[in-house]
Amino acid sequence: MDLFEYQARDLFAKHGVPVLKGIVATTPEEAKAAAEEIGGLTVIKAQVKTGGRGKAGGVKLAKNPDEAYEYAQQILDMDIKGHTVHRVLVAQGADIAEEYYFSILLDRANRSYLAMCSVEGGMEIEQLAAERPEALAKVEVDPLVGIDSAKAQEIVEAAGFSAELQPKVVEVLVKLGDVFKKEDATLVEVNPLVQTPEGDILALDGKVSLDDNAEFRQPDHVALVDKSAENPLEAKAKQHDLNYVKLDGEVGVVGNGAGLVMSTLDVVAYAGEKHGNVKPANFLDIGGGASAEVMAAGLEIILGDEQVKSVFVNVFGGITSCDAVAEGIVKALEILGDSATK
Ligand SMILES: Nc1ncnc2c1ncn2[C@@H]1O[C@H](COP(=O)(O)OP(=O)(O)O)[C@@H](O)[C@H]1O
Ligand SMILES: [Mg+2]
Repeated sequence: MDLFEYQARDLFAKHGVPVLKGIVATTPEEAKAAAEEIGGLTVIKAQVKTGGRGKAGGVKLAKNPDEAYEYAQQILDMDIKGHTVHRVLVAQGADIAEEYYFSILLDRANRSYLAMCSVEGGMEIEQLAAERPEALAKVEVDPLVGIDSAKAQEIVEAAGFSAELQPKVVEVLVKLGDVFKKEDATLVEVNPLVQTPEGDILALDGKVSLDDNAEFRQPDHVALVDKSAENPLEAKAKQHDLNYVKLDGEVGVVGNGAGLVMSTLDVVAYAGEKHGNVKPANFLDIGGGASAEVMAAGLEIILGDEQVKSVFVNVFGGITSCDAVAEGIVKALEILGDSATK
């Protein structure tokens, strides 16, 4: 799960990473009140799960509460790379002397963690990596150790921070390493990490992706889910513990076992080419030993999809006997009653 900047900021604060004051607003009035509360310069920042908000006009410096109102009005409802802005973060304005880049991520290819750091932050990191790869230090981080002071020291030296700045940055990197490890993240990125004229290090923008597989030991993370962006059918399937993914076609698919369901999607799409490009409407794996109740819950979700015109049930009778499955379908239709006969 990807987090909004304000959620990343909250996690940073929880682990002692220095951040500035910030208040989330959903209306220009709230933004104005937030700017009054924070006082002085504020920055109105679009909260969307995509980068490059600054370039798209989604980050604006407001000199006073009236400007905060005006900018919030401009930014709310704006479309940034296909994401609609529903909230803004009214953040305290920072004096910036220098902008840096730091990230730590799960490096799947190397079965390890990778930290990246540069004294040339602010700009898009993909561009920096492509144009001046030597300016971006890449340091492997042992997952069993994480970012301790020694590793953070190695990172700041590789990135080329001045000797004077190194201890301050090291302190912040260790805390960002805590966010990554203790929150079970797969990505923690700070761009920019800045130095103020007073020499303080601050995280001005944060991007965090959390590992959904760690949900079971991170009960607090449930509250971070953006319910408004969830597909309602997928949300309902989750409540029933069903592995359901909404797709775009017309043929509902039910199967047992992810491999079988995936192959069924391919077969349906392939066969559908001869019938005006009919496509599968969903992925749904009901697992082994499907009961009538599970079947009913699955069918109810599939039939709740307005686009569905037919349902293809492809269940392999390995552990489950096929007559039990057939009975499950009949019972499911009984349970569903009228809603199943559309
Ligand atoms: N609180 C702040 N105070 C001053 N300048 C800021 C603040 N937050 C962001 N900026 C400036 O705006 C730029 C873009 O903002 P950022 O939060 O990084 O969004 P994005 O990466 O999506 O463009 C930053 O590089 C920084 O120069
Ligand atoms: Mg940024």
